[in-house]
Amino acid sequence: MRILVTGGAGFIGSHVVEHFHRDHEVVVLDDLRTGRLRNLEGLRHRLVQGSILDEGALADASAGADLVFHLAAMVSVPESVSQPAACESLNVTGTARVLAAARGAGATKVVLASSAAIYGDNPMVPKLETMAPEPRSPYAATKLAGERLLAEAADGALSTTSLRLFNVFGPRQDPASAYAAAVPIFIRKALSGETITVYGDGGQTRDFIYVKDIVGALVHVASRPDVLGSFNVGYGASMTISELAAEILRLTGSSSSVIHLPVRPGDVRHSLASADKLRGTGWRPSHTLAEGLVRTVEWYRSVRE
Ligand SMILES: NC(=O)c1ccc[n+]([C@@H]2O[C@H](COP(=O)([O-])OP(=O)(O)OC[C@H]3O[C@@H](n4cnc5c(N)ncnc54)[C@H](O)[C@@H]3O)[C@@H](O)[C@H]2O)c1
Repeated sequence: MRILVTGGAGFIGSHVVEHFHRDHEVVVLDDLRTGRLRNLEGLRHRLVQGSILDEGALADASAGADLVFHLAAMVSVPESVSQPAACESLNVTGTARVLAAARGAGATKVVLASSAAIYGDNPMVPKLETMAPEPRSPYAATKLAGERLLAEAADGALSTTSLRLFNVFGPRQDPASAYAAAVPIFIRKALSGETITVYGDGGQTRDFIYVKDIVGALVHVASRPDVLGSFNVGYGASMTISELAAEILRLTGSSSSVIHLPVRPGDVRHSLASADKLRGTGWRPSHTLAEGLVRTVEWYRSVRE
């Protein structure tokens, strides 16, 4: 099979490439906006370095594609707030173009990486796909618009699925980015003995999920033409930020101290997925949160050495 991964040089995209690279022909379309060539080191692929908004690059990358994993996006909520038009162009126009290119190429499936952000500040947990979306940022609004484009594009020839990813962590997640997530930042600080900062009392909860289980979900829906629509992907288990910091200190054997700063505006208190809808299609995670954290710590340790 020929598989197109948009955003394949990014954190999650590179794990999708890793899943397929031995047995399939993988094409990566990435303009390296936030992705890194080093994420693809050792992985067999053809890189088309360009934007999903560039018709020529997209036509080149999508030619002959059977499956399309669409992960390229403006991924940062704060950046989407400061550049809403660019976010709209990349996440909505870009998604429309990827869908058109997939159809033109005769692909049978497009899978979109959507986000739990579409649920907004609604305090109700766990999040169910039947809840009304309440996007609170251009990032969330454009992910929701992308889901609608996928739903509209589905027909007898092309199947589409959007996965609403919760808090993904794992190897290759960039702790240096201005918008990095808690897991890579805490691990890097723990390994170098630096103080770990927790915003607020640390009692806020997240549904952290190991990137290999996200890949498993993406691959699962890609192989199922009958699985259409939008699905949450998380473990359906929550961990507080304080518990996460303590677990990372334990796994790294670090004596870093933990300080608390005022809660950041816009931080959601609790986020938890119900992944029952996806489980109903036969998906099961292959790892536990604890295993994922162990493997992730091992990886960050290995790249420091
Ligand atoms: N990491 C998470 O916890 C999480 C949660 C929910 C949803 N998602 C979604 O998953 C997807 C992947 O996220 P990630 O965490 O791997 O982020 P990432 O920044 O590592 O990956 C995004 C990739 O898209 C590429 N890209 C951006 N604009 C592009 C363009 N115009 N043309 C081609 N490539 C472009 C970037 O260079 C990068 O390689 C995104 O769509 C994101 O919104 C991630």
